[in-house]
Amino acid sequence: MTLPLPKPLNSKPILDALAGKVLPRPPVWLMRQAGRYLPEYRELRATSDSFMHFCFSPDLASRATLQPIERFGFDAAILFSDILVIPEALGQKVSFEQGEGPRLQPIGDAAGLSRLHDQIDLKLLEPVFETIDRVKGELPDAVAFIGFCGAPWTVASYMIAGKGTPDQAPARLFAYRYPELFEKLIGKLVSASIDYLVRQIAAGVEIVQIFDSWAGVLPGPAFRKWSLEPILKIAQGVKAKCPDARIIAFPRGVATHLMEFLDCVDIDALGLNTSDNTRWVAQYIQGRKTVQGNLDPLVLLTGGDSLESEVRRILYELSAGPFIFNLGHGILPSTPIEHVEKMLRVIRG
Ligand code: CP3
Repeated sequence: MTLPLPKPLNSKPILDALAGKVLPRPPVWLMRQAGRYLPEYRELRATSDSFMHFCFSPDLASRATLQPIERFGFDAAILFSDILVIPEALGQKVSFEQGEGPRLQPIGDAAGLSRLHDQIDLKLLEPVFETIDRVKGELPDAVAFIGFCGAPWTVASYMIAGKGTPDQAPARLFAYRYPELFEKLIGKLVSASIDYLVRQIAAGVEIVQIFDSWAGVLPGPAFRKWSLEPILKIAQGVKAKCPDARIIAFPRGVATHLMEFLDCVDIDALGLNTSDNTRWVAQYIQGRKTVQGNLDPLVLLTGGDSLESEVRRILYELSAGPFIFNLGHGILPSTPIEHVEKMLRVIRG
């Protein structure tokens, strides 16, 4: 009888990068890599008239997750879902109007808050775990699988405004006016996020990314209380139950708060946003933490020489330390496929 050869410790480049290794070329994936810039996604999406229905269909969501892997061979797949499945599973209905983004019944006061369930309804999220189960059997060995959730502050900002806003003024006002009520909401989201991520990991993802897309609108004390502390608690809660899981945090746009964030929160990698200074990051952050980022999605959309020189600059500035190539925010729906191909040629050499 021949025994199978043991696999190398990490057969997946992203896991090596998350372990702090510096690789000859950085692994790469893109935020929102499954989405409308892909013709095959638009075709699949057209088979369902509701985006939430799409997210809760294991057949459609698993195919959407795999599409960018099949086309580009990225080093990681990210679960196809949305950060707003958490409000839905807490009893706040979510819908997406064509071309207008998310719509929820806004939470304006204590009565609105009291309509939420005490705990997240994980049964409602069963299709997400089923999606993970299907995808994990289809992924090539070297491709890592990333799950995710929105950070409590970002998710709460949509729950309070009931939609996207340019600066999350409704949630900031709510947090300043009613800090005790807001604390209850954030606490509920912390527990819900831990339960949700632990179940994603049990179903088969190896890495989870916590998207705090709106962390950058908060002043220092509010940033600590509503962004940093909740993410810290989620990271602790997840690591306590799943010590092998890897965590990437993306506190977008927090500039000089990044250092304090790293001092406090135990994560495996820090997602950089478009405007983070890569030279400063190389000098002060990469010595202690793997970073991920941060090509401007608008440069990817532009293409041409500016794309090539920006990709080369980022590679030059960040490749000496542990690094995962990504965008500084999600890929834009009008991005040409050829630009993604060109970006990959430059990265892969
Ligand atoms: O990265 C991936 O490929 C996985 C899928 C993913 C989606 N949303 C699919 C999606 C992920 C990781 C998200 C995260 C998400 N969703 C965030 C955090 C990251 C960020 O971009 O800041 C936020 C804030 C949301 C909330 C959300 N979902 C908004 C504001 C919108 C409308 C804007 C838009 O792009 O249309 C969505 C819809 C959404 N989520 C789409 C997709 C593919 C587009 C809807 C469609 O295809 O019809």
